[in-house]
Amino acid sequence: MKIRHFIYLIGFVTMSFVMLSCGASGDDPGYEFAPQMYNSVAYEPLNQIVNEDEGSWLSSREDGKGEFFNSNINNPYRMNMREPVANTVPRTKDGSLPYRLKAFELEAAALNENPIELSDKVLAEGKVLYTQYCATCHGPGGEGDGKAGEVVGGVANLKGGAYINLPEGHIFHVIMKGKGRMGAHGSQIPQERIWKIVHYVKQEIQKQ
Ligand code: HEC
Repeated sequence: MKIRHFIYLIGFVTMSFVMLSCGASGDDPGYEFAPQMYNSVAYEPLNQIVNEDEGSWLSSREDGKGEFFNSNINNPYRMNMREPVANTVPRTKDGSLPYRLKAFELEAAALNENPIELSDKVLAEGKVLYTQYCATCHGPGGEGDGKAGEVVGGVANLKGGAYINLPEGHIFHVIMKGKGRMGAHGSQIPQERIWKIVHYVKQEIQKQ
């Protein structure tokens, strides 16, 4: 055989292989070029390969498994994520426990005590927050004479009548869940800050 024919033959065989490699259908991906690019060795949440022999022809792994095997054998359902411990309670964004009382459960709410220790710093913060969130309706002194309150109408005078004796848990609940014509503020103000406002209302506005 002349050397030229030999080269032709090699070329023909190579071309045939290349053409045949292009065939991929159904579950058969054909020959993959650089398979590590498609099959991540890292644990994948959605793309787990559970066949331990997959990619064994290429494997250099120390655990003897196929190169593409990437699912977690230690967790049930081959999940990569760990399930939370039983009875785990989720925290809110600000790290506090979720407030589970419903809007109408005012009596139960009234029993809650203010978890924030009273100090001058807390009162100063409470004043800023009160001015930010409450003064528009309740007025700077709490007498129900805020500008927005004129439009809303029927704003409570926090210094007058029965309001003066409201328990702290009650005030917290009203801010959190709203009451009557006053809207809920729970989604805007983190719980810790609401308790600071409650301190300010009690100590400075109601002088209780
Ligand atoms: C948009 C206006 C508005 C804002 C803002 C507002 N309130 Fe009120 N608030 C009202 C109105 C109106 C009432 C009367 C509700 C009713 O009885 O219908 C009320 C009632 C109350 C009461 C009495 C609840 C009761 O048991 O009757 C408290 C305490 C109170 N507000 C505190 C606050 C505090 C503290 C803030 C700031 C976090 C605040 N409010 C923000 C309008 C507002």
